[in-house]
Amino acid sequence: MTILITGGAGFIGANFVLDWLAQSSELLINLDKLTYAGNLETLSSLQDDARHVFAQGDIADTELVASLLVKHQPRAVINFAAESHVDRSIHSPEDFIQTNIVGTFRLLEAVRHHWSALPDQGKADFRFLHVSTDEVYGSLSAGEPAFTETHAYEPNSPYSASKAASDHLVRAYHHTYGLPVLTTNCSNNYGPYHFPEKLIPLMIVNALAGKPLPVYGDGMQVRDWLYVKDHCSAIRRVLEAGTLGQTYNVGGWNEKPNLEIVHTVCALLDELRPKADGRRYATQITSVKDRPGHDRRYAIDASKIERELGWKPAETFESGIRKTVQWYLDHPEWVAHVQSGAYREWVQTQYAAA
Ligand code: NAD
Ligand code: DAU
Repeated sequence: MTILITGGAGFIGANFVLDWLAQSSELLINLDKLTYAGNLETLSSLQDDARHVFAQGDIADTELVASLLVKHQPRAVINFAAESHVDRSIHSPEDFIQTNIVGTFRLLEAVRHHWSALPDQGKADFRFLHVSTDEVYGSLSAGEPAFTETHAYEPNSPYSASKAASDHLVRAYHHTYGLPVLTTNCSNNYGPYHFPEKLIPLMIVNALAGKPLPVYGDGMQVRDWLYVKDHCSAIRRVLEAGTLGQTYNVGGWNEKPNLEIVHTVCALLDELRPKADGRRYATQITSVKDRPGHDRRYAIDASKIERELGWKPAETFESGIRKTVQWYLDHPEWVAHVQSGAYREWVQTQYAAA
């Protein structure tokens, strides 16, 4: 048995690979383009593990995807690959259109051609799981109920618009061609191996470096936080038992304003790595210009996945954020390589002889 995942060198994809191989003997094919966000150093523990087959390439490369499907005959494809950072999508949206929309379309085409030629049993057993975001639903005002799966799509950034388009394509491939798809829409993840351009890892690494902690606008924007391993377990559960054509919202019931998150990170660092001069990390918090079109609040109603599939997060925010801060303290080398760009040479140095 084999699964093929895309984007498995990124934050969530790599956590998924590590988690999957910790509990399965199935072969895992990992297709990743290795953009700036792809970091094979995260998967260095799998270097000699024959169950992990890495292929560098683009999900928009139909021929490459077709050849991987023919060669490995996976029972499932899980699509993590995307451009994922909202601020980057505001500065340069083109890559988001290319990967998130055109890339997902080409991937779907390759999968559809492969799937339609499978024997009946193979067809029935096959799954295409698309990993998406709560941002497709737009922004909530204070007091509005959390997003359910039937909430209208109202994406507000080039990133969320491109993810919304990809969700629609996935839905259309089920409706039109009968492709056995599943979609998950998850809230903000945090945890180990998170690229320090995103809020939580940025705050940890800047705090430790004595740099300003840049909070956009008034810092009262609300996000709903989920520990990354809980997202991985939700994806496994949906893959295993989800109803074809359905979408499942995934979240941790952890709505928090950004400023509270930053203060929590600072307080944990004060406890775990107190500064020599006795000053508090929170003194580094700085208010900066707001993100254009900044969504005010996201909140996920995760009751469908709990009711229908029995999934619930294992971590509370308090336990997950403590583990996360501790992980960054314990892995200064990973952080240093990401910051210096040295992780990009990992493939050449580690796999040169392969
Ligand atoms: P990430 O940016 O850390 O990783 C993305 C990975 O995809 C990288 O390894 C990159 O090299 C790869 N990639 C990019 N373009 C590619 C292409 N054209 N072909 C093949 N590989 C390509 O992203 P992440 O935070 O791990 O997010 C993974 C998925 O989960 C995305 O689809 C994202 O929209 C979704 N998501 C993320 C969050 C979150 O909080 N991070 C929450 C909900 C959903
Ligand atoms: O909701 C799910 C989404 O969460 C995913 O789909 C995206 O891929 C992921 O990047 C994330 O998007 P956000 O924009 O919510 O995450 P980010 O970490 O960029 O920002 C979180 C909040 O913190 C947001 O309100 C903006 C704010 N922020 C962010 C940064 C990087 C700051 O105030 N300062 C910062 O420096």
